[in-house]
Amino acid sequence: MGKDVIIACDFPTREICLDFLDNFKDRKPYVKIGMELFYATGPDIVREIKARGHSVFLDLKLHDIPNTVKSAMAVLRDLGADMVNLHAAGTISMMREALTGLTRPDGTRPLLVAVTQLTSTSEEIMQQELLIPHSVESVVLKYAENAKEAGLDGVVCSPLESKVLHSALGSDFLTITPGIRFDDGEKGDQARITTPAKAKELGSDYIVVGRPITRASDPVTVYERCVNDFVE
Ligand code: C5P
Repeated sequence: MGKDVIIACDFPTREICLDFLDNFKDRKPYVKIGMELFYATGPDIVREIKARGHSVFLDLKLHDIPNTVKSAMAVLRDLGADMVNLHAAGTISMMREALTGLTRPDGTRPLLVAVTQLTSTSEEIMQQELLIPHSVESVVLKYAENAKEAGLDGVVCSPLESKVLHSALGSDFLTITPGIRFDDGEKGDQARITTPAKAKELGSDYIVVGRPITRASDPVTVYERCVNDFVE
């Protein structure tokens, strides 16, 4: 499994998304489809982007009772996504059922990764509001251990957590890391950020980059800069 740059295609309509992807002629980037685009367009957007030659990470972060997640995953597996995700907070039992639902009759399945704690949740909020009386680091590690125990392929986490998770859970346990910015770019609402080069150094397996590429005047050049710094 090679390292790759995943573009977060957080667009409100199919047309805007496909116009954006038309910029890329030579290399077909790995695309992340999140809730906004999926709910606005429906499941066909996954098939359409796959048919254009892209790999797809379907970022819908499922979290429900185990049986419901299993049934929903059985629907998602047939859309052709290469990677899907859920919340590790749904428990080991939910994650196991999700894997069952995702597995095709021939035994193949998309990669399944878990969100541990959202990077938008501060330690203070986690402790005071969610009543989880631990450090974010220890909760992220525990949720990642649960994901591994359930048989998942990896987690979505901050690049700053990749190193710890790889040493605890093995280098083949994938870390998919958003929160990527260039030193000379805008942070937006992301707090714990690193550059593509730093994410590579920390051992991220995939970086997820949204606005630095999607809002650039020349998205292809910024994407290529990410690939150069992270993959090559
Ligand atoms: O625009 P930006 O580069 O901040 O996009 C990051 C993408 O990664 C967004 O689609 C966001 O939903 C997603 N994400 C994140 N933090 C997480 C999980 C997902 O930023 N913990």
